[in-house]
Amino acid sequence: MADEHDDKVARDIAPPSPGRRQFLKGVGIAGAGAAVADQLLLRPHEQAVAAEPPQTLSAATTEVTLQINNQKRKAMVEPRTTLLNAMRNHVEPPVTGPKLVCDQGTCGACTVLLDGKPVYSCLVLAVDAMNKPVTTVEGLGTPDKMNAVQAAFVEKDALMCGFCTPGFVTTISAYLKKNPNPSLDEVREACKGNFCRCGTYPKVFEAALAAAKGTGRNGARAELMNHREAAESEA
Ligand code: FES
Ligand code: FES
Repeated sequence: MADEHDDKVARDIAPPSPGRRQFLKGVGIAGAGAAVADQLLLRPHEQAVAAEPPQTLSAATTEVTLQINNQKRKAMVEPRTTLLNAMRNHVEPPVTGPKLVCDQGTCGACTVLLDGKPVYSCLVLAVDAMNKPVTTVEGLGTPDKMNAVQAAFVEKDALMCGFCTPGFVTTISAYLKKNPNPSLDEVREACKGNFCRCGTYPKVFEAALAAAKGTGRNGARAELMNHREAAESEA
């Protein structure tokens, strides 16, 4: 009897033990309280932003007509699409001569001629290239009928992995039109926007000078050989 009485007293004075449902209710209220507190801590304009549902950015596309290697090429692109991206991924068949390497205007692998001038096509928007002639390495010559620079690159074996090659060939082809009789230093300067991670620079410069010589207008190759001989005698 005394035990029953003690049990009853114990039940009466013990704090009620919460059931699972009660516990979850409590957590819910606490969570809601925390959320309200968060809202109160937000400034008014932040509350407005937080209340808005997330927006989905619409990527409107537009049709552009590019003039690539004397051909009209249509593509559906976003306003932010670069000329390089449009050529490689949005025209059919794709134009893959210009290479995507850095995509940041630092390596020159994507060089094309826009209106006759070398540009990094990864830094030009496709919509800005409309109505301007674009020449890629494919437009400079074909395997059967290479231009002088392409032929010189083959002859001098001026490439290793080849990723930089279209950019160099395009840059040098444009430069030799401006200066058909360059010195080695001038060729180096003309190529300063093109990088070769394989380090084929000596062969690239040799090819450029050989191509220039191929026009029959200079003795730059002799200058290169003299330069090499001098370097070898210093070593
Ligand atoms: S990919 Fe355009 S400069 Fe490197
Ligand atoms: S040949 Fe490989 S990056 Fe120039």
